[in-house]
Amino acid sequence: MPYFLVTGDITTFKTDAIVNAANNTLLGGGGVDGAIHRAAGRGLLDECKTLGGCETGDAKITRGYKLPAKYVIHTVGPIWYGGTNGERALLYSCYKRSLAIAKEKGLESIAFPLISSGVYGYPKREALSVAEEAIREFLRDNDMTVYMVIYDRTSYEPPRSGITAAIASFVRNAHVLEGSLGAPKAAASKPLMQLFDGERKKSLRREAEATADMAYAQAVPETCRAPQDLTEMIESLDMSFSELLLKLIDERGMTDAECYKAANIDRRLFSKIRTDKNYHPTKITCIALGIALHLNMSELQALLRAAGYTLSRSSKFDVIIEYFVTNGVYDVITINNTLFEYDEALLGNA
Ligand code: APR
Repeated sequence: MPYFLVTGDITTFKTDAIVNAANNTLLGGGGVDGAIHRAAGRGLLDECKTLGGCETGDAKITRGYKLPAKYVIHTVGPIWYGGTNGERALLYSCYKRSLAIAKEKGLESIAFPLISSGVYGYPKREALSVAEEAIREFLRDNDMTVYMVIYDRTSYEPPRSGITAAIASFVRNAHVLEGSLGAPKAAASKPLMQLFDGERKKSLRREAEATADMAYAQAVPETCRAPQDLTEMIESLDMSFSELLLKLIDERGMTDAECYKAANIDRRLFSKIRTDKNYHPTKITCIALGIALHLNMSELQALLRAAGYTLSRSSKFDVIIEYFVTNGVYDVITINNTLFEYDEALLGNA
């Protein structure tokens, strides 16, 4: 981790490598291929001529020449023929091979375009879903910062999920109010409470809290389990944010790596939090770590308060976080895809 969906022109990215959606000749073309060759200058084509082309699904690396990126990893995506010609496996291989080459080279950051989703006609939503599956798989066992660069809004279709419609109605109904979440003024936030008070929401909330209690009960032996619930325990402590976080990680039996990867933050930032008990993280980092720990709403609020923050209904970002936490969805890529759609900051540290 971390992985970020961003908009922009990949030729301007200062990552260790940018990936080119090339063709089998590697001798340039239109789209992002043309843009990268134009920005890199003649030297790139001269080096590409020495590579002898590239198979679909494979990748080859060159220097970046006049680009801000040190390297260009050229990969050839499949042309879309309807999905029955092994297109998915070939597209997955483009990401897998590009990441493997970046790892072999010891690179720490890489930026991808949405391969095959332009001239090659791969449906954009499926192209992103395949990309994120391959990136998620790689980041499970490797540390690298990965960007998916969406050129413009026409190049992007959000992953298919029922969440999008539900989120839209949830954000519409969440009255923009001062004051913190978790203590809604019933009248003012009535539409929102209706969303929550449906049977499904109640059972989801009970389920999420029962899961949190169960996890807590399993993690903390009977002997030292405080009679209070976790929220009261957190609030009665005067631990720093870092001390509290590390205690929660221990109680959930997570490793540091499991926690920072699930929070979409990098090892460097996490080690600052671990080594400096007075380290003051940003609100987004606090929320990302709360998501990684699968905290319920009251626990998340308590953790944020330990760092001097709170969730508020006057922030769309906070309302979106509340939706996912209340519905027990803690996958940071899923949450970030929704935050990206709403032009909000993403969870993690870029
Ligand atoms: N930065 C980031 N993304 C870009 C840029 C850019 N400067 N320019 C285009 N894109 C995006 C497109 O919007 C699309 O989402 O890159 C994605 C891939 O589109 P294409 O460049 O058309 O690549 P692809 O669909 O894989 O087709 C490859 O097109 O350019 C030729 O030589 C190339 O034959 C090859 C074919």
